[in-house]
Amino acid sequence: MPLLLQLALALLAVAGDAATAAATTTHLRFYMHDTVTASASSGQEAATAVRVVKGAAALPNDPVNRFGDVYAVDDPLTEGPDAAASAAVGRARGLYVFASRTDSTLLLSATMEFTSGRHNGSTVAGLARDAILDDVRELPVVGGTGGLRGATGYALLRTHSFNPATNNAVLQIDMYLNV
Ligand SMILES: *[C@@H]1O[C@H](CO)[C@@H](O)[C@H](O)[C@H]1NC(C)=O
Repeated sequence: MPLLLQLALALLAVAGDAATAAATTTHLRFYMHDTVTASASSGQEAATAVRVVKGAAALPNDPVNRFGDVYAVDDPLTEGPDAAASAAVGRARGLYVFASRTDSTLLLSATMEFTSGRHNGSTVAGLARDAILDDVRELPVVGGTGGLRGATGYALLRTHSFNPATNNAVLQIDMYLNV
């Protein structure tokens, strides 16, 4: 085979691999309930997001959150947006830090632990910037365990609801995984 043709075929093979690697094979949608203030109406008896460090400096345009605030999180994950009516699918466990001096932007580091359905016992790890006021935030998925071992891909986060009086939020999460 002529050398040039061999080279061209080799390049095609590499391009093909890259395309395969980028394709996602699994789409998961679920909702994360971030309850800072517990109440009967929030559906949570105890707060699931607790500020463990109070940030050093007030944020401009944000009367509540401070640069440096750190929250420990053990948020329930459900199939639908209504915490009370919807089946549990797991927990989001980790932390978030208000990591910008100028915006309400987090560093979110959490493991999604699935406890029902096809992915029961599997986990997915996310580590990312989360600009909470943006309509859609893209977060990289950096790994997984069990049936989702070695998962890569990304998650799209949308704020389904937010209550400024309680600081409670429900997030819609779409994960596109390559497993
Ligand atoms: C998930 O897996 C655990 C451990 O195998 C099992 O005890 C539990 O019943 C499962 N949960 C569901 C909802 O299937």
